[in-house]
Amino acid sequence: MIVGMPRNILAPSILSADFLQLGEAIKACEDAGIEWFQLDVMDGHFVPNISFGPLVVKACRRATDAFLDVHLMISAPDQYLEAFLAAGADSLTIHYEAAPHLHRTLSRIHTLGMKTGVALNPATPVNVLDEVIDQIDLINVMTVNPGFAGQKFIPGSPEKINRVRSYLDEHGSDAHLQVDGGISVDTAKVAAESGANVFVAASAIFQHPAGIAAGVEALREAISGSQG
Ligand code: DX5
Repeated sequence: MIVGMPRNILAPSILSADFLQLGEAIKACEDAGIEWFQLDVMDGHFVPNISFGPLVVKACRRATDAFLDVHLMISAPDQYLEAFLAAGADSLTIHYEAAPHLHRTLSRIHTLGMKTGVALNPATPVNVLDEVIDQIDLINVMTVNPGFAGQKFIPGSPEKINRVRSYLDEHGSDAHLQVDGGISVDTAKVAAESGANVFVAASAIFQHPAGIAAGVEALREAISGSQG
């Protein structure tokens, strides 16, 4: 469990930010009350796209004290755990599909002093985590196929989110249930109603026509209106 975080968390992914103004974009989020960012690392191998590596994580760390969850969409995460720790990551989310030695990788992340996340591609069922659920601080339910911002939320996702919520309850786990991809005002509401509590959004925040603060506010309202 990531202690001290509120139950519902909005986590902007900087992928859709203007990288020439990254510091300002992060500041605008913080001014709007954001305390958690997702940093999407892509290697052009595990996913078709290439984004950025530890250098940009390090720059973000200089810009903010917020919680930095680094989402590693890369084929060989084990090779880079120390590099992302040194860059300032608070949490590393690795993909189940890219981590054949998941038990060892999660143990190493904890030993290094970071929180652990495991992301599941849309085709991957949650029960593959049976043997490691005690080692997981966050499950990222991908609601698009990873690789690009601006994709459409996969329609069957609410059922999966629901299944993951039940799974966490059955296993007595207080891991965060994060949703990632195609999160808008409408889908955030549905995801919240289905049991998600961490909402990653790139386009809906950084491409909001009225600006970052308006994007944050609209999503926050959608999320908070859905939970009692
Ligand atoms: C998908 C990334 C997502 C993505 C979300 O590969 O993990 O975080 O950037 O972007 P939007 O919110 O635009 O779908």
